[in-house]
Amino acid sequence: MTDPVTPYVTLSDGTRMPAVGLGTFGSDKYGPAEIAEAVYGAVKAGYRLIDCAEVYGNEDRIGEALGRLFRVGAVRREELFVVSKVWNDHHGCVGEACVSSLAALGLDYLDAYYIHWPFPNYHAPGCDGDSRNPDSKPFSADEFLSTYRQCETLYDEGKIRAIGVSNMTVSKLEAVFPSLRVRPTLIEMELHPAFRQKDLRAWCADHGLQPVGFCPLGSPSRPERDKTSEDIAAMEMPVVKEIAARHGIHPAAVCLKWSRQSGAVPIPFSVKPAQYRMNLACLTEDPLTDEELTAIDASDADCRLIKGQVFLWEGADDWRELWT
Ligand SMILES: NC(=O)c1ccc[n+]([C@@H]2O[C@H](COP(=O)([O-])OP(=O)(O)OC[C@H]3O[C@@H](n4cnc5c(N)ncnc54)[C@H](OP(=O)(O)O)[C@@H]3O)[C@@H](O)[C@H]2O)c1
Repeated sequence: MTDPVTPYVTLSDGTRMPAVGLGTFGSDKYGPAEIAEAVYGAVKAGYRLIDCAEVYGNEDRIGEALGRLFRVGAVRREELFVVSKVWNDHHGCVGEACVSSLAALGLDYLDAYYIHWPFPNYHAPGCDGDSRNPDSKPFSADEFLSTYRQCETLYDEGKIRAIGVSNMTVSKLEAVFPSLRVRPTLIEMELHPAFRQKDLRAWCADHGLQPVGFCPLGSPSRPERDKTSEDIAAMEMPVVKEIAARHGIHPAAVCLKWSRQSGAVPIPFSVKPAQYRMNLACLTEDPLTDEELTAIDASDADCRLIKGQVFLWEGADDWRELWT
């Protein structure tokens, strides 16, 4: 059996980007060594996009895996699209955070660098979902722009080849977009059949922002602190299961096909070779029909899983205030 070839999309600046990637957030369940091994195996299996972040705490081990891949000649640096993200407590020193991620990853440039969350609100790793940091504040366009300017400097220096935003809303984008000198080309957003963010994606399509869909399978292994009783599991949705049965495929494949055929770049996480191989292969065969895509769109439950409640400021009562 030959390995599937990664599909590509073209970004608004003309860059070709792999249209599926491997997530690397272990959700408190998988450690750095397992994830690094998955990166090694996934690249050998054909993945070319690796979604990293300093807060995932594993960039040094991923860097070792990338080094091994280069040494054995499995892939060349220019064939990979490696991204990282500045964490909330480094909005005042983005250059240092980026250089530190580059050193950990063993790279001299990133294909894209995201502002992970659009505010500097910080919480300790693994903290309780109801904890509040007294320094947390609502979104400020000026504060965001000051962080973004530092990304523009990194872009000018050649350390990053694109700027990405993440966890944004239409109103926040509208508040800052006219002031951005180097236009972002990528936006990470939660995206799965139970949460399809139609308005945000329409805005992004009009403004040259490629959606990169995180939690594309509904993040079944996310930390307990990110689970509530109202959450809807994308892979358990009747419409997803019916389509999976019709095609004789796993519901995970339906979620990923829907994401890609809806124009997003999904970045599913897995450390299990059978899963990550299938997650790539399913995007190169047996597409969903227009009727199936419409049926999934019609079942949108508007169910956000990553609510971000730990980033709330004192006095805010509901996680929805983060998403205005
Ligand atoms: N920008 C942001 O703020 C942000 C936020 C969240 C995530 N992300 C990125 O997005 C990535 C993906 O999100 P995620 O990891 O939360 O969720 P996800 O990709 O939706 O779910 C991953 C989980 O789904 C299961 N899975 C994977 N492939 C499968 C398959 N073929 N069949 C059945 N089950 C399968 C695995 O569970 P088991 O391990 O239990 O088998 C795996 O741990 C992250 O790793 C991270 O890189 C970014």
